[in-house]
Amino acid sequence: MIMKCLFPVAGYGTRFLPATKAQPKEMLPILTKPLIQYGVEEAFAAGMKNIAFVTGRTKRAIEDHFDVTYELEDQISGTSKESQLDDIRELIAICTFSYTRQAHMRGLGDAILTGETLIGDRPFGVILADDLCVGEPDGVMAQMVRVYEKYRCSIVAVEEVPIEDVGRYGVVKGRQLDDRNILVEHMVEKPAPQDAPSNLAIIGRYILTPDIFEILRNTPPGKNGEVQLTDALQIQAANGKVIAYRFQGRRFDCGSVEGFVAATNFFFSCRKDAR
Ligand code: UTP
Repeated sequence: MIMKCLFPVAGYGTRFLPATKAQPKEMLPILTKPLIQYGVEEAFAAGMKNIAFVTGRTKRAIEDHFDVTYELEDQISGTSKESQLDDIRELIAICTFSYTRQAHMRGLGDAILTGETLIGDRPFGVILADDLCVGEPDGVMAQMVRVYEKYRCSIVAVEEVPIEDVGRYGVVKGRQLDDRNILVEHMVEKPAPQDAPSNLAIIGRYILTPDIFEILRNTPPGKNGEVQLTDALQIQAANGKVIAYRFQGRRFDCGSVEGFVAATNFFFSCRKDAR
């Protein structure tokens, strides 16, 4: 059973300035729910009740969101608005939330290494909340837990992207095991289209085995001078210990304005259909 899920949320979110000048990108809402809550709900649905955040400056609103707000709750108690808090109340009642800070933005690999103190020595999930996933029929992390139970190694979620977009992702290549699973042999971070080994891009969902921490400790800065998770995963892949999983469902890149708008439209049309 994987109990812990790590949320690296220390990034500056520069693509959403000025909105992210004094508030976390992860608190931007798709309709009425912040991105980070969608991510935590996905982890919870996968059985992960220990939620760990790697935060930074200007991220305090995330801590407040996953805490009781007495005055507000008292104010709306007994009104029709109370039901809007049902989901977050359930998370607060059942999950635990812990926090540590990444002092310098040295990349996703460094953020995950910073989270070691909260994770310990068991396999764990990682969710990048700006990738908003709508799994079908189950959440993407729940799908990945099943893949982990079969292969017992690190799992990365992948999807095909247009070849001209590969430079924004880690890209994998390997041996097809079945329709959805690939034993990764090679991976490269943000390749130029002509150098990309495939168009299978890693999205913001991972299950990692805890040996990743020792590997990250010994991983020098790579692309853009950042400690790249992909470089550390490549070491595991060389030992046949990484599966790329083509998830079932949709992903919205809410770190970009286009993806954010697409997600908003999608969730709005779902809500209209539900009425
Ligand atoms: P991104 O590069 O997509 O996010 O990192 P960003 O830096 O916040 O956004 P832009 O590009 O400036 O608009 C992917 C994820 O990794 C986290 C980010 O918070 C985001 O969830 N991250 C990245 C860290 O926690 N620490 C880092 O040093 C880098």
